[in-house]
Amino acid sequence: MQGDLERVLFDEPAIQRRLDEIAAQISNDYRDRELTVIAVMNGSLMFMADLLRRIPLPLKLDCLSVASYHGRTEPGEIIFRQVAPDVAGRHILILDDILDSGQTLAAVRDKLQLAGPRSIRSCVLLKKKKERPSAVDADYVGFEIEDEFVVGYGLDFMERYRNLPCIGVLRKELIAQTHPPSAS
Ligand code: IMP
Ligand code: MG
Repeated sequence: MQGDLERVLFDEPAIQRRLDEIAAQISNDYRDRELTVIAVMNGSLMFMADLLRRIPLPLKLDCLSVASYHGRTEPGEIIFRQVAPDVAGRHILILDDILDSGQTLAAVRDKLQLAGPRSIRSCVLLKKKKERPSAVDADYVGFEIEDEFVVGYGLDFMERYRNLPCIGVLRKELIAQTHPPSAS
């Protein structure tokens, strides 16, 4: 599986070290407010499990399942697979694997906002360096990366590679093989 990577960006120890730092920051920021974490599945599964175990505060956890990519590498429409959890009056922290176009985070944020939370922040493990509407950003970011397709540590390509322990760039020919460019 690791042979399908063009290169590794972050190995397990590098990820864990960065999680220590973000968890410390979040723990400090929420020391006197009860936190409700909303994790966006499936991509944030590993990130959520490793991050939350480093936050020694009382907190509530809910997961939200959205689909945006429909098995491709370009964003499509955001589909919510269930009703949003009741977040009225709570301090919400949205967790997602990666901030790409920002469509997913914006859609989740808008949906949760309707329920009247006291505050909403977001935390992503990865953020791609690219243009996106300025209103769409994350309050906590693990790593900034170039605008390349990455897999591993929860991130998938067509539902594969989520169980890779590291994060790496997928070899371009694997993406091209599955989705040959349309003739024009
Ligand atoms: P956005 O809505 O364009 O910000 O995309 C967010 C979602 O797209 C993420 O939660 C991922 O599931 C998926 N995604 C975006 N970029 C990548 C990538 O490089 N690798 C794997 N999944 C990605
Ligand atoms: Mg995905």
